[in-house]
Amino acid sequence: MKPENIYIVSNRLPVTVMRTENGFTVTQSNGGLATALGSVFHQQNSYWIGWPGIIVDNEKEEQLVKELLEPLRCIPVFLSQEEFDGYYNGFSNAILWPLFHYHPGHCIFDDEYWLAYRNVNSKFGSVVSAHVPQDAFLWIHDYQLMLLPFYINHSNLSYFHHIHFPSQEVFGIIPWRSDLLDALLKCRHIVFQTEKDRVNFKDACLKYASKAHPDLFNTHSSLGTKVSAHPISIDAFDFSQTVQKNAVQTMTREIHDVFANQRIILSVDRLDYSKGILERLEAFRLLLKDFPQYHEKLVLLMLVVPSRSDVPSYEEHKRKVDELVGNINSEYASLGWRPVHYYYQQVNRDTLCAYYAAADVCLVTSLRDGLNLVSKEYVACRTKNNGVLILSEMAGAAEELTYALKIHPYDIKQMVVAIAYALEMEKSEENVRMTALKKKVFGYTVFDWLDTIFQEVFCMYEELKYSFEQ
Ligand code: ADP
Ligand code: G6P
Repeated sequence: MKPENIYIVSNRLPVTVMRTENGFTVTQSNGGLATALGSVFHQQNSYWIGWPGIIVDNEKEEQLVKELLEPLRCIPVFLSQEEFDGYYNGFSNAILWPLFHYHPGHCIFDDEYWLAYRNVNSKFGSVVSAHVPQDAFLWIHDYQLMLLPFYINHSNLSYFHHIHFPSQEVFGIIPWRSDLLDALLKCRHIVFQTEKDRVNFKDACLKYASKAHPDLFNTHSSLGTKVSAHPISIDAFDFSQTVQKNAVQTMTREIHDVFANQRIILSVDRLDYSKGILERLEAFRLLLKDFPQYHEKLVLLMLVVPSRSDVPSYEEHKRKVDELVGNINSEYASLGWRPVHYYYQQVNRDTLCAYYAAADVCLVTSLRDGLNLVSKEYVACRTKNNGVLILSEMAGAAEELTYALKIHPYDIKQMVVAIAYALEMEKSEENVRMTALKKKVFGYTVFDWLDTIFQEVFCMYEELKYSFEQ
């Protein structure tokens, strides 16, 4: 059962607008939210409201951007530089993101950020009210818009939280914790990635929400908000089909040729401290120190997409990653061998799939991650049922992908042992693990996730209708 008329609202649209010499163009947006939701967006009668990824400074340009996005069923919310700095760089990514990922040291608790967050959430509210009919299914996504429900009057309001929801003690550090929860509780339906997130949210509500009541979490929606956990996924079949395209297979062979006689460990992420990139590099460095037999026979290939580069903690993190990559390469490289290949750029879907197909090992080291789609994408691309996924136990996906090799991302020595084990794994074990992982990833795609959520919404409204009729 799918609602007839769906409006997605998130900070970022699935496409990012860019300036060209004679106007504007669009590219695919980065990050898990855009990848996962982008696959299900191409449904009829869906619209997407969000920031177009560019600051435009006059009405003429705004009009041009609107016209560019209209055929894509995207409705832009324009932000000034000041709004963007306070709401996105500030409150979203220098308070909520670091705190929700257990990095309070990266937080800057500035009243101005809170003001900007409120103003921009209210601005989104005005755009929503102007475009979304009352009978539409209105679906808000992620931490940048936690206050949005406060600014809209809509009966069918759902919210999906893509990132980890921290324990209530950590959430309680936010001075504006009650306002955030009270606003969210205006939704009838709230969904988290994992059961752990759901329980943390419930604990936070019971402690800090002004109108929280134990019945709130009763499965009977008529008593309040229904809160559940359904991990998001990917369009696994699209990834496996992409790997089989001739052009992608050619690219895969080229990668193998470039790294002939070398095993490939691959990592793919936004440049974000929550991904454990420094810890991964430290582990790789220790591996090269302790296992000299891998010299000239192994590369760490890192596809890193630029992210949030105006936020000071991200700038600082990039400097450290650049430095550590340089140090490892200068310590261990030889005439024909560079141990770390670090690409600081976004690659297209075909290229990404070619790297997934070529890699012997995919290394996911998140210090904390709502889900982590990269782990699922790697599995979806292993058409021959080989390859090893090493996955941080701190990623939401670890709950589903139980056949991955699990690591504790703060335990560098354990990570080294896991990498060495992955490189030496018997083919039969590789096959058993990958077959089981594929069963999971293909057995529950992003379309199944969507069906589950809509089914839940449908049941909720049926219950509600029934309780009104009684
Ligand atoms: P997050 O949502 O925190 O960014 P995920 O792992 O859930 O983390 O999602 C990241 C998404 O971004 C994946 O779809 C991944 O393929 C994509 N991605 C990450 N790095 C790159 C890159 N360098 N080039 C292209 N896509 C990338
Ligand atoms: C994560 C967040 C998304 C965000 C994405 C990319 O997936 O959950 O909300 O869109 O990262 O980050 P960015 O700040 O570039 O939108």
